[in-house]
Amino acid sequence: MKYILILGATSDIAAATAYEFARNGFGILLAGRAPEKLAVIEKDISSRFEVPVSSHLFDAEDFAGHASFFAKLPHRPDVTLCAFGYLGEQEKGQNEWEEAQRIIQVNYTGAVSVLNIVANSYAEQEYGAIIGISSVAGERGRQSNYLYGSAKAGFTAYLSGLRNRLAKKGIPVLTVKPGFVRTRMTEGLPLPKPLTAEPEQVGKAIYKAFRSKEDVIYTLPVWKLIMQNIRMIPEGIFKKMNL
Ligand SMILES: NC(=O)c1ccc[n+]([C@@H]2O[C@H](COP(=O)([O-])OP(=O)(O)OC[C@H]3O[C@@H](n4cnc5c(N)ncnc54)[C@H](OP(=O)(O)O)[C@@H]3O)[C@@H](O)[C@H]2O)c1
Repeated sequence: MKYILILGATSDIAAATAYEFARNGFGILLAGRAPEKLAVIEKDISSRFEVPVSSHLFDAEDFAGHASFFAKLPHRPDVTLCAFGYLGEQEKGQNEWEEAQRIIQVNYTGAVSVLNIVANSYAEQEYGAIIGISSVAGERGRQSNYLYGSAKAGFTAYLSGLRNRLAKKGIPVLTVKPGFVRTRMTEGLPLPKPLTAEPEQVGKAIYKAFRSKEDVIYTLPVWKLIMQNIRMIPEGIFKKMNL
């Protein structure tokens, strides 16, 4: 039996991805900071699929606890998905360090802290796979969300370096760059329908890309083209745009 560890399992995208791996016979290790929410997902997966599912407490900001969290898991996961994230409020973060710090800590520092441990374990055993959910927001800083975007940019570069390091050991690292996805994170935001994915679509795309050992995917794929164009806008024009 193969297992996937899902960090931030109460995320809508993570839960959809958990269903996809369970459907394909993976045992599921759910990790998150809200036990009651984990219990609901655990019960639902157990009732639908004949795979083992368990829940484990994990807080991305509890850096000191990450090594013992990973060591105490009942199974060494074959695959680790890092899905947690915090959009936060850009304006609040500009004025209150605590908000800025939380955005950086959850999206970047927490991810680096736990994935360093996972990566070292996989490197030593020369086996495993890592999937990280970053964001198209990390490709170019915009006034409306550059705190979140810069943390995701750091995470994207981290995953790229990790992929380079672990490729020699045959350990794939997949970077997922979603555009808009209809989840709790984007609730209430006016999302353009043709550019917005459902969590289930992202879950399916992640499983498919994992199977085919892809390096980087955009969900929806149209976002690859959009970001190519956005990157090409000269800085002199970009800085005057209302983005
Ligand atoms: N939705 C989008 O449009 C979009 C676009 C690009 C990238 N993404 C990325 O996709 C990933 C999944 O997000 P989502 O859209 O599914 O949003 P979501 O449903 O709001 O999920 C966010 C998840 O992060 C978890 N989390 C936050 N702080 C944490 C902490 N300190 N420790 C552990 N877990 C923590 C939340 O846990 P609780 O349940 O305990 O709050 C929740 O499980 C994130 O990395 C996000 O940045 C989303």
